Formats: sequence, structure tokens, C-alpha cells
Amino acid sequence: MSWKRTHSCQRLNLELVGEKVTLNGWVNRRRDLGGLIFIDLRDRSGLVQIVFNPEVLSSEQYNTAESLRQEYVISVTGTVQPRPEGQVNSELASGAIEVQVNALKILSGSKTPPFHIDKTVDVDDSLLLKYRYLDLRHKHLQKALETRHRVSHIVRNFLNDHGFLEIETPMLTRSTPEGARDYVVPSRIHPGKFYALPQSPQIFKQLLMIAGFERYFQMARCFRDEDLRADRQPEFTQIDVEMSFVDADDVMQIMEEMVIKVFKEITGKDISTPIPRLSYEQAMLRYGSDRPDTRFGLEIVGLSDILKNTGFKVFSNIIAEGGVVCGINAKGCGADFSRREIDQLVEKANEFGAKGLVWINIADTIKSPIIKFLSEQEITAICSKMGAESGDFILLVADSKEKAADVLGRLRLHLGGKLNLIDDNKFNFLWVIDWPLYEYNEDEGRYTAAHHPFTAPHDDDLDLMDTDPSKVRAKAYDLVLNGVELGGGSIRISQREVQERMFKSLGFTSEEAEEKFGFLMEAFEYGTPPHGGIALGLDRLVMLLTGSSSIRDVIAFPKTTSALDLMTGAPASVSDEQLTELKIKLS
Ligand code: AMO
Ligand code: AMP
Repeated sequence: MSWKRTHSCQRLNLELVGEKVTLNGWVNRRRDLGGLIFIDLRDRSGLVQIVFNPEVLSSEQYNTAESLRQEYVISVTGTVQPRPEGQVNSELASGAIEVQVNALKILSGSKTPPFHIDKTVDVDDSLLLKYRYLDLRHKHLQKALETRHRVSHIVRNFLNDHGFLEIETPMLTRSTPEGARDYVVPSRIHPGKFYALPQSPQIFKQLLMIAGFERYFQMARCFRDEDLRADRQPEFTQIDVEMSFVDADDVMQIMEEMVIKVFKEITGKDISTPIPRLSYEQAMLRYGSDRPDTRFGLEIVGLSDILKNTGFKVFSNIIAEGGVVCGINAKGCGADFSRREIDQLVEKANEFGAKGLVWINIADTIKSPIIKFLSEQEITAICSKMGAESGDFILLVADSKEKAADVLGRLRLHLGGKLNLIDDNKFNFLWVIDWPLYEYNEDEGRYTAAHHPFTAPHDDDLDLMDTDPSKVRAKAYDLVLNGVELGGGSIRISQREVQERMFKSLGFTSEEAEEKFGFLMEAFEYGTPPHGGIALGLDRLVMLLTGSSSIRDVIAFPKTTSALDLMTGAPASVSDEQLTELKIKLS
């Protein structure tokens, strides 16, 4: 008799009653009941109940059945029968039937697993990662990877239908700056020389445009040595796209079409179009974030005009020194917040870097720690600008423009969560456009590229590159979903002269620029079409589509937040021979 499967578990239903089937899978759960042994058999498709009856089986087969333990891999042949009345499990696709087994073969035994596969109980993360292949047997991870596969498939088909060619670019290459540290690979043949793993295929995809491919995409693995968190892994996958003869609108439009298709096919939901656009400046002013979560209000309001001459000197002084006072209105929270909760909010603000947090409880008698400094006109004007009425609770922060926005942006997210304002069923897309080309790096005392150094400045702002970099706008756009940066892209610099100016403004000498990127700048001189593109984080996209809280849940073999692979033990030492061969001495 063959042990090979005829059906997968979830396929079995009442229509197959009476049929003889052979199933392969894992013992998910076992229950013994008055001589009968019930097993939930699990395969990739799901579960089915199988029954071992001592009256049907030979004693040898029954004894084998008795020896079955969790996670044994078995093959059974049996007959599909309806479950007895009252025992139908409506949660299982195969819940109306069971399989009466008449032959059993153990294909593989199993040690007792370090955690349950059929139950979600709290297990230490490191144990789950060490036994990732067992963790991956959990249904939610199987589902997540299946969704990931489907998303890739939809994206590939979409891009193929729109004339994009999938082209692979090298993994062993030179540094491709995206603002993180490189992972480097030593060269054996050229001692002392190193390849860098790509932070993105940025330069190669631009070279493909120069080569004339016009529309490129790649499911590109990228490597970045940076601080990790829930939505960052050291290696991750981008849906990487580049197009020739386009402007920013063209790129945004085709990406909109693509994500809408993905969302429709995966969730069944329609995303309304066009996706709203917000300038970087407005995003920072209104949400204190370059990736605002627009699923809820609590917008930030500027109050400097009202408070510039206020008797509360902390505020008027900060405004006089070029700072701002801004606030958010927690609607209807005046009566709800206890003294303790208010203290916690002040603590939170401090944690977020605020110098302090002033609150105003709008009620018949207005309460605030600075009430004696505020005039009636000031309070009326604040309420009117913030749309505040009796019962509301206002929070104010004074600081530099950037700091105040940042603190209130974080406080806004904190409050949104605390007040349950965030609807998990909503998908709020947003384009953040008109980015600055540069950002100032306090630590390094110089400008760095807000995106990457290949992003084109607005045509009108070219001259500001040398005179006032902080004012240069970029032809860059980010796609944001529910407060997560899903993707970013831009129209690129395509002229040698502009690229040289860009490197110069970033503090490169012309020799350094030539040494690192001379090949690209030379390529610009051989007929370069105007071009631009974008990269969407596939991991983040699937994380949001599956409602996962971390991209780890949508990557088969992820690393810890300290970039360790607890299963293989990577990174690991190498042998002295390898080091000698590479001419590397460890210090
Ligand atoms: P950027 O650096 O914005 O742009 O990256 C594009 C998208 O990649 C995802 N992403 C990550 N996902 C997981 N872990 C990480 N460590 C990580 N870093 C980035 C994000 C992000 O929006 N070459 C440009 C694109 C372009 O200009 O076309 C680039 O790489 O979702
Ligand atoms: P102080 O004068 O430091 O005792 O502060 C008086 C009140 O103003 C306290 O409630 C502080 O939290 C608040 N406060 C101080 N500095 C700031 C600031 N920069 N922004 C908002 N509130 C502040």
C-alpha cells in the first residue's frame, strides 16, 4: 500500500463520505476516549480529525497508534465518515467529518517540542527563534508567509503587465549609501579590499535606465547595519522600481494602482483614490511626524501668535528666541484624566524630550498649573484656535520648532493609543511630498541627504544648494500607511554637474566623489534619460496586510534586535585559516 497522500486535510468534507483517503501530516493533538484515540492531523492546509478504533484496527496497528506523540509525522489510510451528531466543529473546514483509520505508518518520530504548536501560549521569544522551524509550524506564521508569497505574485504580475522587466543586480558591490552602515565582505583575491552588500540597488537601477531598459523592477534584498526595531531588520526586501521619461506624478500614480490592487486582492478592501498628498512641512506642523498616522485627529496647532507676549515667561521667552508654542486638544478628556494620568502624560512628554508640559483643563473653572499667568483673552483665543470647548483637555509644549513638533507628534501617537482612537480596520495611505533635500546632522555638524544623494532638487531651488541648503526642496515622495513609512522614492539627478554639486554640498571633496561615484557621474555623460523611481518595503507591506506587529512575523528566518540569528548562531567566528587566507588580523 502506498503511503503517499491522496488528499490534503482541509479538502475533506461531507461530499467525500465513504471515500478511502490517504493523508500525510503531523500529530497536532491527541485525545484518548474510552479506547478510541482521536488525533488532529495537521498539514499545510489545516487540520482534520482522525480516529483510531481498536475494533477496526489490528492490535499491532492500534499499539502503533497508542505510541503516537505530538509532532510525529504519519501517513494514515482510512474512510471519511460524518462526525456523530453534536460533534461537528464549525471552525474547521473539515469539521463536519472525521477519518476512520484502518492503516497507519509512522514516517518520523519527534522529540517533545520545546513549546506547543497547537496553542498560542506565552513562550520566550529567544526560544521561538532558536527553534524557528517549529515556530513556523504555527498557523499565523504559515498564513503570513503565504500572504507574502501572494503579495509578491500580485506585484510581479502587475509590474510585468505594465512593461517592467525584473533584472537582478549584484550583492557583492561597492557602498550604496542610504544612510546606514554597510555590511562588508572581505576579498580573498584582493587582500585589504572589501565588497559592500547593497543597502539598496539604487545606483544599479539608475545605470539600467542609462542602459535603456526604461522600466525595471526587482524584489531586491537589501542589507543595512543600523539600529533595529519592530519594522527594521538588517536584511529585508524591497519592491524596487525605476522608470525613465517620467516625473514624480507618473511614479506615484503607477505605485498607487499597484498597492490598491494588492490591497483589494489580499483584503478585499477598496482603497479610495487618489491617495491624499501632504507636504513634508504640513506633515511636520500638523502631525509632528514625516510619516503621520492619519487614522485619527488630535492634530497639532501652533499658538505662538497668541502667546508671544504672555505673562508665562517660559513661553514668551522661548518664542522670543525663535521657538514656538504648540498644542493638541484631547477632546472630551478633561473630566476623564485623573491626577495620576496627568502626571503620567507630563512624564511621557519629558521622556520624549520635552522641557515641560503645560495642560489646561477646559471646564467651568478652568484649571492649569499656569492659570495665574494666562489672561482671559489668551485662553479664549487658544480655545477658539484649537476648537476647544468645555470638557476638553489641552496640552502645550514650548521649544524649537523641530523639537516641539517631535514631542507633540509622539504625544499624539501615545494619546491616540491610550484613548483608543486608532481603528485597526482602517488603511490610511498618504503621500508625503516636497521633502527637503538635506537634513542637518547636529552630531556631524554638516548636511546629509534627507533621502539619498541621488535625489534631484526642485528646478527652482538649484541655486540654494550652495547658498542655503536647508531651503532646498527635493523631488522626493514617501508612501505612508497608518503611520508606517512603506516606501520612498524620487526623481533622480541625471546630470554630472548637479551630482557634483550635490556631493560637494554634502562635504565630499571632488577627489572623494570621483573615487566613490565617478563611474556613475561618467555614465551620466553618455545619454541619460530623465528618470525616477521608488522602493516599497515588502516586509512592511506584508506586516500591515497581515496585521502583524513586527516584520519578524513575515520573514521566514529573521534576526533578533541585536542582529543575531539564534538558530544558526550567526554571526560566528571564522577559522584562523580563513583569516590568514583573507590576510585579516583581529585586533
Ligand atoms: P529607503 O531607504 O526609503 O529608499 O527604503 C525604501 C523602503 O525600504 C524599507 N526599509 C526597510 N524595511 C525593513 N528593514 C529595514 N532596515 C528597512 N530599511 C528600509 C522601507 C522603506 O520605505 N533606494 C531608495 C529608494 C528609491 O529612491 O527608489 C531606498 O532604498 O519600507
Ligand atoms: P517651571 O517654571 O519649570 O516650574 O514650569 C512651570 C510649568 O511649565 C510646568 O508645568 C512645566 O511642565 C511647564 N513647562 C516648563 N517648560 C515648558 C516648555 N518648554 N513647554 C511646555 N511646558 C513647559
